[in-house]
Amino acid sequence: MAYSDKVVDHYENPRNVGTLDKASTEVGTGLVGAPECGDVMRLQIKVNPTTQIIEDAKFKTFGCGSAIASSSLATEWVKGKTVAEALAISNTDIVKELALPPVKIHCSVLAEDAIRAAIGDWKKKNGQPESEPALVG
Ligand code: FES
Ligand code: FES
Repeated sequence: MAYSDKVVDHYENPRNVGTLDKASTEVGTGLVGAPECGDVMRLQIKVNPTTQIIEDAKFKTFGCGSAIASSSLATEWVKGKTVAEALAISNTDIVKELALPPVKIHCSVLAEDAIRAAIGDWKKKNGQPESEPALVG
């Protein structure tokens, strides 16, 4: 399969690979797996408690090139956004940016799920309701 230049770039130079302190109340951790292929993605965010801005993000992904590129891109995109803004990132934005082919769309879903799971974990730690009203569309 031919990967787009952007996928190859993120795959060869993944941004923000690493780990944040899981125990910190400012850190949210999302760990998700894709039933389609068994790949696993961990995405972590560090949120400023006052501004609710995501100041740092790290990921580790055991998976295909598209999954690695999707999570690398996701960490770039959430940084500097508020939690609410980060929740608005959808897998279709990732598909578009990386020009993922249809068989690789679930890799981008994994990244969206990982962002949501990380935010959910952070909310739980900070006494906020975990579930968001369902997004339409
Ligand atoms: Fe497992 Fe993508 S199918 S690496
Ligand atoms: Fe499974 Fe990419 S093929 S996440």
